[in-house]
Amino acid sequence: MFVRTAGERDLAAIRALLVETWHATYDAIYGVERVREITDDWHSIASLKARLTRPNSEFLVADDGKRIGGMAFAAATTDAKIVLLNQLYVLPACQRQGIGQALLEEVEASFPEANTLRVEVEEANAPAVAFYLSNGFLAAGSTADCGGGSGLPALIFEKPLG
Ligand SMILES: CC(C)(COP(=O)(O)OP(=O)(O)OC[C@H]1O[C@@H](n2cnc3c(N)ncnc32)[C@H](O)[C@@H]1OP(=O)(O)O)[C@@H](O)C(=O)NCCC(=O)NCCS
Repeated sequence: MFVRTAGERDLAAIRALLVETWHATYDAIYGVERVREITDDWHSIASLKARLTRPNSEFLVADDGKRIGGMAFAAATTDAKIVLLNQLYVLPACQRQGIGQALLEEVEASFPEANTLRVEVEEANAPAVAFYLSNGFLAAGSTADCGGGSGLPALIFEKPLG
């Protein structure tokens, strides 16, 4: 898999990846119905398309020429020194092969002005917590509203950059 910038023609595959990976990751935590609601909203083609043109952001996919195995979306916050990794998802069948790490490295390289990469992680998502801790992130508090508007609690992790 190689990492490249996402384009409009990738959106259907990215949506399918997000739906599959969200159900695999979160059904046991939030329930199937809630996951369907969230993915229908956050991961609609229209929502994803808007991200392609968002300023100060990076939308990446990992691709082997046949399929998309992972995606990442990160954007600078109102403080340009702090970048929020909004999404990092690898298809269940492609996990633990270094794809998440490759996407993370490209995100870090995409914001040379930033000094902090921040991520919000569901506390019960132990594999993701393990991934971030083994990739240089440190615990930095919590939020009651993961993603803004979800009302879901999450842990915050931050990685110093540069
Ligand atoms: C979390 C996620 C992005 C990691 O991507 P990945 O491609 O599977 O991870 P990598 O292969 O790059 O892993 C790099 C290192 O992170 C750690 N790690 C990754 N997954 C782990 C797991 N399930 N348990 C423990 N450590 C893990 C390991 O140290 C791993 O190195 P190793 O395989 O040599 O031991 C991916 O598993 C995923 O998409 N999960 C479901 C969705 C999700 O939770 N996304 C994050 C939302 S905040």
